[in-house]
Amino acid sequence: MIRYQKICEQLASTPSTWLVTGVAGFIGSNLLEHLLKLNQKVIGLDNFATGHQRNLDEVKSLVGAEQWSQFTFIEGDICNSQDCQKACEGVDYVLHQAALGSVPRSINDPVATNATNISGFLNMLVAARDAEVKSFTYAASSSTYGDHPALPKVEENIGKPLSPYAVTKYVNELYADVFATTYGFKAIGLRYFNVFGKRQDPNGAYAAVIPKWTAAMVSGEDVFINGDGETSRDFCFIENAVQANILAATADEAAKNEVYNVAVGDRTTLNILFNSLKGALAENGVVCEKPPVYRDFRPGDVRHSQADIGKAANKLGYAPDYRISAGIAKAMPWYLGDLR
Ligand SMILES: NC(=O)c1ccc[n+]([C@@H]2O[C@H](COP(=O)([O-])OP(=O)(O)OC[C@H]3O[C@@H](n4cnc5c(N)ncnc54)[C@H](O)[C@@H]3O)[C@@H](O)[C@H]2O)c1
Repeated sequence: MIRYQKICEQLASTPSTWLVTGVAGFIGSNLLEHLLKLNQKVIGLDNFATGHQRNLDEVKSLVGAEQWSQFTFIEGDICNSQDCQKACEGVDYVLHQAALGSVPRSINDPVATNATNISGFLNMLVAARDAEVKSFTYAASSSTYGDHPALPKVEENIGKPLSPYAVTKYVNELYADVFATTYGFKAIGLRYFNVFGKRQDPNGAYAAVIPKWTAAMVSGEDVFINGDGETSRDFCFIENAVQANILAATADEAAKNEVYNVAVGDRTTLNILFNSLKGALAENGVVCEKPPVYRDFRPGDVRHSQADIGKAANKLGYAPDYRISAGIAKAMPWYLGDLR
């Protein structure tokens, strides 16, 4: 936390220009909110493939008018190299979040996932390299651990990818590495583990588990658990992920051309998650009587996931402030305001 506080103070006193791709999405809009509150200038790029104008509107309502005036939005596509070049002009730090997320989406449409997550990623790397930005931090994924059985997950030990999405996120890491050796352009990859918090989309076939279940519980619908409920994840509250991005972007050279786990180091089963959400809702007066409905395991899903966050702690100064229950408690007012 010490390095993070220091960096935030430094940034606030000497504002920089940031590019956040995927700015209308869940993680991107939270990065935007934090950066504007630190008085930074932010350029945002998004094509609204899965992001929403309402996320930008919500950030606008949460920051001051003066801070909002420091934001420039470009509606554009990372698959279009000119959009990427335009977005990178005059930028100090790139936080590249735009991608098509979701393992099942990639199984249903691997071509679309490949186009955005690999060709789009490459366009962004080239544009950022040519614009000579100070740093390029990108959203990698814990899905890269694939079928490697070891727990907790250590950055060096990865297995075979289990989905097209996992392939694309691994290819991002390979491209970033090759850009370091061929052009001296050193990026930093953040392997997110199941990030959750406000503005994560609860709707649609590809929604993430926490907003999807919370929405179902609030409206009295069935909650479906894929498999026996003993599948486990290292759920990471959004503010931890924001911290990791700011630390990575401002890291020294020795910390670059690396990938880092971004999570908490805990492991929560889906059965435990169900009860935690039920308990947090009950504390807010929402009673969920229905037991969960168990159905088949989902293809492509990793069985267990838990991060070793030692590398991010040592090399970036990452110190997550929120474990899962604190994150759920902090997100609850948003879930209730938005989902009720
Ligand atoms: N949320 C998680 O738990 C998690 C875990 C691992 C990795 N990630 C990665 O983090 C990043 C952000 O994820 P998120 O959860 O905020 O998802 P999200 O879907 O809410 O945000 C992604 C944003 O990217 C935009 N986008 C998609 N394709 C684009 C394109 N071609 N051009 C421009 N913009 C485009 C979308 O419209 C959306 O606003 C993604 O790269 C995702 O793969 C997320």
